[in-house]
This record gives sequence, C-alpha cells and structure tokens, in this order.
Amino acid sequence: MDIKSIPNHELERLKQKAQELSGSKTDFHTEYSSLLARRLNNEPLQYIEEFMPFYTVQLRVDERALIPRPETEYLIEVIKNKVKDPKSILDVGTGSGCISIMLKSLYQNANVTGIDISPNAIELAKENAILNNLDVNFIESDLFENLPENNFDLIVANLPYIPTNDIKTLDIEVLNFEPLNALDGGNDDGTDIIKNLISQINEKDVNDVEIFLEIDSRFSEKIIKLLNNYEEVELLKDLADKDRYIYARR
Ligand SMILES: C[S@@+](CC[C@H](N)C(=O)[O-])C[C@H]1O[C@@H](n2cnc3c(N)ncnc32)[C@H](O)[C@@H]1O
Repeated sequence: MDIKSIPNHELERLKQKAQELSGSKTDFHTEYSSLLARRLNNEPLQYIEEFMPFYTVQLRVDERALIPRPETEYLIEVIKNKVKDPKSILDVGTGSGCISIMLKSLYQNANVTGIDISPNAIELAKENAILNNLDVNFIESDLFENLPENNFDLIVANLPYIPTNDIKTLDIEVLNFEPLNALDGGNDDGTDIIKNLISQINEKDVNDVEIFLEIDSRFSEKIIKLLNNYEEVELLKDLADKDRYIYARR
C-alpha cells in the first residue's frame, strides 16, 4: 500500500491515535510515523486504533480475534427486532465477544455465555466484558464440548463460513493480520462447522430455542435443509440486501 491509497479520514484517525499515544496535540511525529508505517504494511486500521465501536459497546480488537464486521453488527439489530426476553443466551464462536457482550447489554436479565475454540479469542472476549462492565461467562470450547449446560433459549452463531479454497482470495489485510481459522469453514462449501453445530443442538435435545446463524448466501439452502425439525425457519437479509442470516425456532 502507498500513502496515496490511504484515504484522508484514515490519516486523520491515525493522527488522532498518535496524539493520544504521545499525550500531546503538537508533538506526535514519532508516534504518527510508526502508526503510518503499520498501515502502509496493510495492518487493519482497527488493530492500529486498538478499539472500535460495535453497535453501542466499545471493544478492544487485536490479532487474537477477528475484527467484527458490519454484517454482524446488523445481526444484533435483527435479533433485537425479533427476540423479546431471552433468559439464557449462547454465542457460539464468540471471537472478540462482540455478540455476547452486546446481547448482555440489550438483555440485562439474561445469562449470557460465549464460547470459542480459540484460547486467544476467549482471553480477549473476557477483557472486553470487563471493559464494558458486563457479566458474561466465556468458556473455551469446541462447540458444545466443554459446556456444563444446554438449556439455552437463544443461540447465536457467527462461525467460520468461508470455503477453504476461497480464503486465498481475501484482502491482504485479512490474510496477513486476522486469524484465518476464524474464517475458514472447511472444504467444499465451508459449512462443516455450522453443520456440526446443528447436529450437536439436535443431539443435546435443545428445545424451546431460537437460533440465529450468520451464513454465506450461496449455501443457505443446504443449511436450511438440515433444519427440517424446526417449527419456523426463515432466511433474513443483511443491509446490502444479501441473504445473510438463518433464523430457526423450535
Ligand atoms: C467468523 S469468527 C466470529 C467472531 C465473532 N463472533 C464476530 O462476529 O466477530 C468465528 C469464530 O468461531 C470460532 N470457532 C471456530 N471453530 C469453532 C468451534 N469448533 N467451536 C467454537 N468456536 C469456533 C473461531 O475461533 C472464531 O473466533
């Protein structure tokens, strides 16, 4: 990346971060140069800034977890419009903790658990709960493996859903800095982990539950077929009018 390709608003944000780091509004040249060098090296702006807003909470973001995407922020809006008063919420593949923490902020009376297979992500999610002064239980777990209970009435999952073959086509910022195991959904159609989650929900007999899955629209029909034992299944669109979420209730 060369400096001409960095938009002005990004340069302004780097300047503000440099001022914050140096503690001076005028003497921040050294800090600015090093932040600019990181950006020119394709590091995502959010990692350089260290914090980002997500819906109404503020999150620390770094290489331990994926940077939350606008589609996931809009998923919060979709859930808020559909779900009234959940008592026990599970966020599968919590990453930075964005979904769990934001849902705890919206549904203060609910018990919220976030799980992730990555110990780094769990560490970051715990820091983010403390940052927002919200009580969320984070557990390192391969899907339901280490979960002590399974009586959730709302399950939300933004699990990896990019087919392994498509990973190499991602932007260099993503490839060089974000944890790729947070995106790689496996061979063929990238639905392996989501399919495993659906079968574990069946095996554990989780009933009276509402489920939201963030998905790749190309493979929505495949996933919907697996939800044939649900009373209601709906495909929902994101802000770009793309099929992006599956809602299921039983
Ligand atoms: C697409 S990222 C989503 C992170 C966060 N929820 C968000 O929306 O920004 C997927 C997350 O699922 C986690 N993950 C992948 N396989 C998993 C598994 N088998 N069990 C639990 N978490 C898993 C990854 O470590 C990663 O943090």
